[in-house]
Amino acid sequence: MRIAVYPGSFDPFTNGHLDILNRAAKLFDYVIVAVLVNPEKKCLFTPEQRVDMINAVLGESENVRAVHFHGLLVDFCRQVHACAVIRGLRAVSDYEYELQLFSINKQLAVDIETVFLMSSTQYSFLSSSIVKEVARYGGDVSTMVPQGVDAALRGLFRSGGGTKK
Ligand code: PNS
Repeated sequence: MRIAVYPGSFDPFTNGHLDILNRAAKLFDYVIVAVLVNPEKKCLFTPEQRVDMINAVLGESENVRAVHFHGLLVDFCRQVHACAVIRGLRAVSDYEYELQLFSINKQLAVDIETVFLMSSTQYSFLSSSIVKEVARYGGDVSTMVPQGVDAALRGLFRSGGGTKK
């Protein structure tokens, strides 16, 4: 059984993330979407909300599931017996940060590979930050995020909630 971990903040999960996840799920037997719990980062949604939203999007899919994790990514990978980390690459601007993540993870765990998937063209501009900004000012993000995430964003900003970032 080849297990991969797709880690991130996913605040919130976008259609770009879903595209990478669906493609990764064809390459591995099982993909775990791992939502980082990082108390130092102010997020719009709690880790539990993000995990629930992602699992609602995934529905009955058999080989993908979201959970949250604390601490080092490589430790989590070991815990779930994953052989690979999945990361999406959009533009050249992602490269430096991703190279850093890759290098550190490789140094910490030489046996865990990082597999980079290039974003599909229609999502190469999309980021969680852009989605939050558009949604915060009342813009339509329904083509950028899954339906459940769109509803959650509408609910949050209609009620004036959310942690300003
Ligand atoms: O979606 P993001 O915020 O770019 O994801 C970053 C993430 C969660 C993959 C990265 O911050 C991470 O793996 N954090 C866990 C702590 C860790 O392992 N740090 C060492 C590698 S930087």
